[in-house]
Amino acid sequence: MDKEAGKKQAALEAVKYVERGMTLGLGTGSTAARFVEALAPLIAAGYALRGVPTSEATRRQAAVIGVEIIEPDETTVIDLAVDGTDEADPNLNLIKGGGAALLREKIVASAAKTFIVIADKSKRVAALGAFPLPVEIEPFGWALTVQAMRDTIAAAGLDASKLELRHREGAAVKSDGGHLIIDCALSRIEDPASLDTALKAIPGVIETGLFCGVADMVIYGDETGVSIDKP
Ligand code: A5P
Repeated sequence: MDKEAGKKQAALEAVKYVERGMTLGLGTGSTAARFVEALAPLIAAGYALRGVPTSEATRRQAAVIGVEIIEPDETTVIDLAVDGTDEADPNLNLIKGGGAALLREKIVASAAKTFIVIADKSKRVAALGAFPLPVEIEPFGWALTVQAMRDTIAAAGLDASKLELRHREGAAVKSDGGHLIIDCALSRIEDPASLDTALKAIPGVIETGLFCGVADMVIYGDETGVSIDKP
């Protein structure tokens, strides 16, 4: 399958849900970038669009094409958020965070009136877990937090031996918020919502890449078109 064609098809389908004057939550990653690109013709056609980006990379991309970047306040209504995913199951549970933006992504997706996920078809899985679950944690005492995560993961009946601090070019990766990322290779997560709750109960865990009950639809693309999963 041509993954790039799939990302583009899904992004073009998601753009059909954008209306004039909307405030958009803008995701992070290569698929979300296709969606931001696809907004350019709408802006050229006179749509006034405001955006809440989930990363500095997305902020720069959206600003260049003319999306008005806003800092949300307590009156902000995000009409529609659109983002990619690393995996999605048929119940619309997701693993996100491959790009280390999971905390901001979850804040924006959860606040949005509608959250649409876009992906090439390779991201659809029967059960989550082949993609290592990213967990965003506080740098202070991070190794203690990892110990507690191992206990929690083992108590859930999952393999707790493959938790790794994410590195790039010899340095620990930090999220835009300055947090560390632990990638947890768990193979198969039977009950993602319970694991999310259990991990977030650990002091030091800021957010997990499990998005359960957040997505309103997942649009999958391939070279021939799109298919949509809804609840
Ligand atoms: C960013 O932190 C992630 O949640 C991305 O949305 C996810 O990794 C999908 O990225 P791609 O669209 O680049 O595959």
